[in-house]
Amino acid sequence: MDRDLAMELVRVTETAALAAAGYMGRGDKIGADQAAVDGMRKAFSSLSICGTVVIGEGELDEAPMLYIGEKVGCGEAGIREVDIAVDPLEGTTLIAKGLPNAIAVVAMAPKGCLLHAPDTYMNKIAVGPKAKGRIDIKAPISQNLTAVAEALNKNIGDLTVIVQDRPRHDDIIRQIREAGARIKLFSDGDVAAAIATGFEDTGVDILLGVGGAPEGVIAAAALKAMGGDMQGILQPMSPEEFERCRQLGFKTDEEIYKVLTLDDLVKGTDCLFAATGITQGDLLKGVVHKGNGMAETHSVVMRGETGTIRFVTAIHRLDKTNILQEVLKKHRLV
Ligand code: FBP
Repeated sequence: MDRDLAMELVRVTETAALAAAGYMGRGDKIGADQAAVDGMRKAFSSLSICGTVVIGEGELDEAPMLYIGEKVGCGEAGIREVDIAVDPLEGTTLIAKGLPNAIAVVAMAPKGCLLHAPDTYMNKIAVGPKAKGRIDIKAPISQNLTAVAEALNKNIGDLTVIVQDRPRHDDIIRQIREAGARIKLFSDGDVAAAIATGFEDTGVDILLGVGGAPEGVIAAAALKAMGGDMQGILQPMSPEEFERCRQLGFKTDEEIYKVLTLDDLVKGTDCLFAATGITQGDLLKGVVHKGNGMAETHSVVMRGETGTIRFVTAIHRLDKTNILQEVLKKHRLV
């Protein structure tokens, strides 16, 4: 994929983040999500790609925009054909409560290179580059912690495992504690948590636990670009979720419970990932409203082919950005 697309993608996540940021702390998850979707969709419309949303806001009947299968971009048919995975607002509860780590996020890869993951849960393990090749989602937790500690040249007691704070993780948490590692619990946003394993200064070494499968594919694109590692196993929890698996081709138990490697989640190295902070986070600052119609955004954009990771700070004149003005007006945020 053309490298210029990386910077174009940042515009897409910036627009979604700026639109959603107006809802910070308002207790309105749905409004915030819709603003992020509106912003992201409008920003995509000027991108010279022929994109298909493979991970999005749901099926056409439940999501009017950025639904799975929606075509985005203004590129000529058949040229620059790409798969797109979007989460315009990752952490709906976080923005509604004004809590840290809400982000707007997009991954892109050539057509056919992103797993079409069903909207179910996924058991996940993720690590940064130094521990690549040392994880095995089927092995006991203590074995994974020993291998990762060895790869990072640390004692298990120095490892920090990031785990989503959910009752379903009680047993994982018990096993991590028994092994002697430290735990950082987070309330929401496992894309940001997975990415944190790829940046040593976050102090996070390994992500363990069950979160959304769509979020798993998006995080995998970032880990691919960073040279990290990840594995997942789909974990449907209800008859509806089993049905969603079947509809996407995971028909037998063997197919559903297969270990999905980083290459199964994102094929090849030609992938792009971009995220913009909405609320203040561990890796990215949130949108900062500076008054006088000015706002600052903080984004990261990664390119799998070269492994380049760029942090982009931008100052936006909200009154001069037509796309954004339209969205902010629709949501009565100006
Ligand atoms: P939303 O942005 O859709 O609210 O998702 C937030 C999130 O925390 C994801 O990061 C995570 O994968 C998923 O929810 C976990 O699901 P659940 O809240 O059902 O435990």
